[in-house]
Amino acid sequence: MKDFIGKVAVITGAGNGFGVELAKECATRGMKIVIADIDKNDLYRTESMLIEMGADVVAVATDVSIYEEVELLAKITIDTFGSVDLLFNNAGVVAAGPVWELPVNDWDWIMGVNVNGLVYGLRAFIPIMLKQGTPCHIVNTSSVAGLLTTPSMVAYHTTKHAAVALTEATNYSLQAINANIKMSVFCPGFVQTDLHNCDRHRPERFKIDPNNPYYESKTYKEGLARGQHVITTGIPIDSIAQSVFIAIEDEKFYILTHPQYHPVIGKRVKDMLEGVNPSAEFFTKA
Ligand SMILES: NC(=O)c1ccc[n+]([C@@H]2O[C@H](COP(=O)([O-])OP(=O)(O)OC[C@H]3O[C@@H](n4cnc5c(N)ncnc54)[C@H](O)[C@@H]3O)[C@@H](O)[C@H]2O)c1
Repeated sequence: MKDFIGKVAVITGAGNGFGVELAKECATRGMKIVIADIDKNDLYRTESMLIEMGADVVAVATDVSIYEEVELLAKITIDTFGSVDLLFNNAGVVAAGPVWELPVNDWDWIMGVNVNGLVYGLRAFIPIMLKQGTPCHIVNTSSVAGLLTTPSMVAYHTTKHAAVALTEATNYSLQAINANIKMSVFCPGFVQTDLHNCDRHRPERFKIDPNNPYYESKTYKEGLARGQHVITTGIPIDSIAQSVFIAIEDEKFYILTHPQYHPVIGKRVKDMLEGVNPSAEFFTKA
């Protein structure tokens, strides 16, 4: 996609962080915008900002971990603007802790948002895009955590590796039918957003159970503290949306923003091919 003026973008997770920046970039490029988020206050704040920028915008409160809500998002998009050209499957959350301690509730939550949320976006929007037949693009937000692994974020890595696999495999399927849809997978390192506060965006059914001692545990509290540290010391968010749009223009599949991780990704692949066991030596402080 190279022409954006008058085209329609849908952005999930548009209440904070990357979603807001992507929405601003869509507005700057003259797109019509559908923004979605589970947090209504944050969503409507983004909506007001986009209206002030002069954008044609619709805000749809959506929990991406519920298929019917994503399907409704697609319906509202078509009812309002008549088409969809660009989808940012971006909403995401994080949960830290080892697999044997992290409550099943948290697994269900993070898999529901970071994996099912992407699947539901593809399931709801791809048939519409195919029927349209016009040049379309889908960006799935994964993370550099989808290209490497560290010891402390098992659930997050699991979902982000799934996001990369889902995007690669779907892209092959689309190529096989010569589809009008290009795809990218966005794999940033740490960037200053609100991600470390994502417990406040838990859907009702995944709320923290105050009777579960895990949420008073050292593991949980250390996970929160580590999350806060890495996100607040990440790179500034300013230039991120522009990089994503340049990648869309260039039809670039992998969008990476932190070259310092390239040797780690390379080592992981090399180790696999050479039969070397994985080692956490890089990540003793991760
Ligand atoms: N910030 C980073 O360092 C970083 C790095 C790599 C990848 N990511 C990924 O980027 C994406 C965006 O995260 P961010 O850093 O902007 O975080 P953020 O918390 O600032 O924004 C995420 C938004 O997603 C929304 N959201 C959460 N659960 C939702 C749900 N069930 N349905 C709809 N919306 C929901 C939140 O309300 C929030 O507004 C996520 O997928 C995240 O994993 C972030």
